[in-house]
Order: sequence, then structure tokens, then C-alpha cells
Amino acid sequence: MEPLSREEVLTCVEAAVRAPSIHNTQPWLFLHEDDRIEVHADPSRRLPSVDPQGRALHLSLGAAVLNLCLGVAAAGRRPFLDLLPAAGDERHVATVTAEGPYAMDDEDRALYEAIPVRRTSRRPFLDAPVDPQALRRLEEAALLQGGELKFADEPERELLLSLVRTADERRKDDFAYRAELRTWTTDDPYREDGVPLEAMGPGSRDGAVPVRVFTPELERDVREFESEPVIAVLSAVGGDSPADWLRAGQALQRVLLEATRLGLATGLFTQPMEHADLRDLLADPAGRTHVQAILRFGHAAEGTSLTARRSAEDVIARGRPLPLRPTRLG
Ligand SMILES: Cc1cc2nc3c(=O)[nH]c(=O)nc-3n(C[C@H](O)[C@H](O)[C@H](O)COP(=O)(O)O)c2cc1C
Repeated sequence: MEPLSREEVLTCVEAAVRAPSIHNTQPWLFLHEDDRIEVHADPSRRLPSVDPQGRALHLSLGAAVLNLCLGVAAAGRRPFLDLLPAAGDERHVATVTAEGPYAMDDEDRALYEAIPVRRTSRRPFLDAPVDPQALRRLEEAALLQGGELKFADEPERELLLSLVRTADERRKDDFAYRAELRTWTTDDPYREDGVPLEAMGPGSRDGAVPVRVFTPELERDVREFESEPVIAVLSAVGGDSPADWLRAGQALQRVLLEATRLGLATGLFTQPMEHADLRDLLADPAGRTHVQAILRFGHAAEGTSLTARRSAEDVIARGRPLPLRPTRLG
């Protein structure tokens, strides 16, 4: 197939790097060869305290993979995705091949256009209901990527938020967790990764909406958040392996892009996913679905700025990432 030009690759990778990632670690590297762009995990950007298994790392990579596929489609080529294509090299998480000419449909075009606009909000949302039709569209977005998004009713919402609070409580004296947060939060306006101070919101009164506290050592304002937060659980369908996390990351990103396009603000809580016993409390007894993240949707009451990214040039590997095989993450 016709090779991708350097310019096309840069545009596609620019879309990929706008994906959300745990603590804005951007744990990816890209490799371009002819008509293919490979996505590799960068194990040096993994979070041993918060993410020992690599679940959040793979969710982040999956989100980048979806953006990359949309980028290839926007370049007028049909994206063919191969997940974990190299047996024995688990760092090589995906290859996207740019096949023949392709006309992107309006739906995907709208999602592609939402990529540079999407952002995570940790601020209060308006006390205004979200259109039920919009919620159905978000559920469909997850299904389209083989995931499942389930909105919580009131008792479920209280359970989910209480698990987030319990997870936060357990981290209070966790030295390794706090050290990791310090490494990945920043007040340096030139830094291109990590969560900047401006991206943190106020605390929510009585911990009603327990957004992750990135700077526990700093005093924060406490404010009233929306009284009935719109909360959903995103799950992988099938298994709970790195391949399933990559697929769930694509579902997560399609949901976030769809929400952005519908004018909704989005936030994530993954604290309970970091404790096996808390995550078990959300387990599907039939074992069909596997919870990956808790999401919050709403109407933004105030703006949130975009966070920085390393440039596409900086994350395109000049040679094949080493060691190629055998590799183990971590
Ligand atoms: C797998 C995953 C888990 C995340 N968990 C949280 C979380 O628990 N709390 C939070 O505030 N943000 C969470 N985020 C959002 C990231 O912090 C955010 O994507 C990153 O800082 C980049 O900012 P942006 O989404 O505004 O581009 C998570 C993102 C991903 C992909």
C-alpha cells in the first residue's frame, strides 16, 4: 500500500497524543514504517504505585490508538488495527495500517474534530439534568468499541462514590503513592507532561464528589458540586487482560469524544480500580464484564484549560524501541 508521508504521520500522531492518560504520563512511543504506524508502551512512564498491573497504562494506550485510527481515517486512508501484533513483545501494543482510500463518515469526522477539544474536568458541574438521549448515545459509543457503559441509579452512584472515598482514605499515608503524585503534578508552565496545578479543581464539600486529590499537601477551596452527579461505569466485555484493557481504552475514548461533541464535560475516577478488594465489590457475578473506570458527565459550570503534551516529533521513535523481545512491562 502507498506509504504515509512524514506530514501525514505527524498529523496522525498529533491526534493520538491528545488522548487522556493516567496522570498525563503519555506512556507511548510511535514507530512509522511505510504504510504502518506502530504504537509501543513506554515502560519508563508507567506508575508502579497507582498502576502496578498496567491496567491504566493500557487504557491510556487504547485511547491513543482510537485517536490514531481516527487520524488515519481523516487522512483519507482506511485504518486497519492489529492489537498486540507481535507475540512475545508486549510493549508493541498496536499496529495501525493505512489501507486504501477511505471517506470518513460524518460521525467519525465529528469525533475526530472533538479530539483537540476534549479535556478532563475536575470542577463542579451545573445542577442541570443531562438529556437522557445523550446518555443513550454515550452507551452506544462504548458498545461500538466492544465496551459497556452503564449509568448508575442513585443507590449505585452512592456505592461507587463511597468506594472512591474509601480508596482515597487508604492513600492518606501511602508514601509511595504521594511521591508518585508529586512526580506527576507540576507548576512548571514549560513541562509537557504531568497534571498541571490549573487542572485541579476545588475540593467538594463533605467529599460529595471525590475528585482525585493530586496535591494533598496544598490547601484547596471547598465548593458545592452538582447535587446529583451523573456517574457511569465503563467495563470491558469478555476478559480482563492487556488486550481487553486496550479495547476498553478505545471505548473510553469514544465515549469521551462523543460526550465532548455533545457539549458535555467529563471526568474520571479510577481510585477504586487500584484496590483489588474494592474493584471486586463491583464485579459482575456472571463474569461477562470487567469494570475499568468510573466516569462523571455534566454541564460545565466553568472552563478547564487543555493540558500540555509532548510533540508528535518527540514521541516518534527514531529506531525500533529496545529491547524488542522478550520484554516484560516493569
Ligand atoms: C486510565 C485513566 C485513568 C484516569 N484516572 C483519573 C482519576 O482517577 N482522576 C482524575 O482526576 N483524572 C483521571 N484521569 C484523567 C487524566 O488525569 C488526564 O487524562 C490527564 O491529566 C490529561 O488531561 P486531559 O484529559 O485534560 O487531556 C485518568 C485518565 C486515564 C486515561
